Amino acid sequence: MFRGIKRAEGHKMAVSGSANPQEHWSGRAAFILAAVGSAVGLGNLVRFPYVAGETGGGAFVLFYLVCILFIGLPVLCAELMIGRRGGGSAVAAIARLSKSEGKSGIWTIVGWLGMISTFLILTFYSVLAGWVLHFVLLSIGDLAGAIGENGLGAISSPAFEAMSKDDISSQLGELLTQPVRMIIMHGIFIIVTIAIVMRGIKGGIEVAAKVLMPIFFILLLALTVSSLINGDAGAGFAFLFQPDFEKFGAALSDGSILLDAIGQAFFSLSLGSAMMITYGLYLSREDQIPGAARAVAFADTSVALIAGLAIFPIVFAAGLNEAAGFSLLFNSLPLAFHQLPFGGIFAIAFFIMTLFAALTSSIALLEVTVAIADGDVDVDPAKRDRRRVQGAIVIGLIAFGIGVANALSQVSGVETFFNTWHPLDFIPLFEGLVLLDLIDQLTANILLPLGGFLTAIFAGWVVSGSAAREELNFNSERTFKIWRFLCRWVCPLFVGLVLVYAAIIAPMLG
Ligand code: TRP
Repeated sequence: MFRGIKRAEGHKMAVSGSANPQEHWSGRAAFILAAVGSAVGLGNLVRFPYVAGETGGGAFVLFYLVCILFIGLPVLCAELMIGRRGGGSAVAAIARLSKSEGKSGIWTIVGWLGMISTFLILTFYSVLAGWVLHFVLLSIGDLAGAIGENGLGAISSPAFEAMSKDDISSQLGELLTQPVRMIIMHGIFIIVTIAIVMRGIKGGIEVAAKVLMPIFFILLLALTVSSLINGDAGAGFAFLFQPDFEKFGAALSDGSILLDAIGQAFFSLSLGSAMMITYGLYLSREDQIPGAARAVAFADTSVALIAGLAIFPIVFAAGLNEAAGFSLLFNSLPLAFHQLPFGGIFAIAFFIMTLFAALTSSIALLEVTVAIADGDVDVDPAKRDRRRVQGAIVIGLIAFGIGVANALSQVSGVETFFNTWHPLDFIPLFEGLVLLDLIDQLTANILLPLGGFLTAIFAGWVVSGSAAREELNFNSERTFKIWRFLCRWVCPLFVGLVLVYAAIIAPMLG
């Protein structure tokens, strides 16, 4: 009875800024939608190709899939379990669960750590999303220009018809020489994120997500087909799916490829940051956590792999640098649209959808931070709403401020202080990284794995077996045992060892 009331409270609380599962859909559909919305984003479309490109492809991808299966999936189940069992914000959920198990409140540190991670991710995520917004405007401008010149018939023309290939693949480079424009785009994106989180996003965004996400998938597939036909499909496939074991061995020696794969798995699934603990509330009693977790992991991984297949054939055919970092998507896909009938329309649609995918993630990022910063459930509703508005604005604006520094760190052509500043140069792991890349590495490769490590220990050792068994309700006792074994031993040991080795020992050995 008591738990029932708490749960209902918690529902309203954690969810008031996001989808309300009981409004339109069954709990399961709403949960999957919300969780996939948070998971699928720039991590899949921009970061996955970037990390795969820098680490040499196949071997990384192989490890990435192993990480998703043996680390991501069990930790995802663990986070959802903690969230549904505990209720409230992530910190509150962990506090309650620790208490009911008679354990110390120190574990709430997982929630606080998550708050720091999600906040830091937001500061650079919104800058990258600003780049996407720039490309939305660019492709709209391009098509409008073509129509203005050649009449409505131009609608069937490929994107950027009037430009040379070199020009097309250097559009992001152009943007990076315009700090003011970059900051404006970043600002617009943050303001929209704040406005949505502030008001709660019942209605609009879920409906939009429900309609847009499937269209996004179809567009991505169409683009992939076009890229496979027009690009170098063989090279793309080989790069992504053929592990080069020589390179692999070399990369293994400093553990960096393992850490990159773990970090990307956590980043892409929004794990290790208390996010899925918060979203555990979307799940109703009847829903099966393992099935939901599998669906989310599957959708997220497919989008990443398909994005890779859309991007790399073009990269190789056009002779672009596959290790070009975050710019990969922006430099290659416009070329794919350039070779596609109706490419102008497709380009607009694709970048709008990407923007949308980024928005559903950034909302979640801000939401987690605001929910934890707001404290626990037991305040009166009017006050709570006011605090949410204040929280969203204040935290959003601080993120904007740090984001400006992040944006300036990417500028090329003019000196901005931030583009030559390497804040943690004295730490071997972070040597030579400008602010945005530093925060990216710090969150994905350190803070999220650390959060995941602690979450696995909490779920495996602190939460009792009987509570976990009841909450997870696996089909068979055997699957439960496997999950528990992964949480107790495999995740902590593997993530912990890789973290210590790749982040501390190997860089020191140089
Ligand atoms: N998973 C998101 C993406 O792939 C980014 C992300 C990482 C995230 N951690 C998060 C989103 C926590 C929300 C909450 O783009």
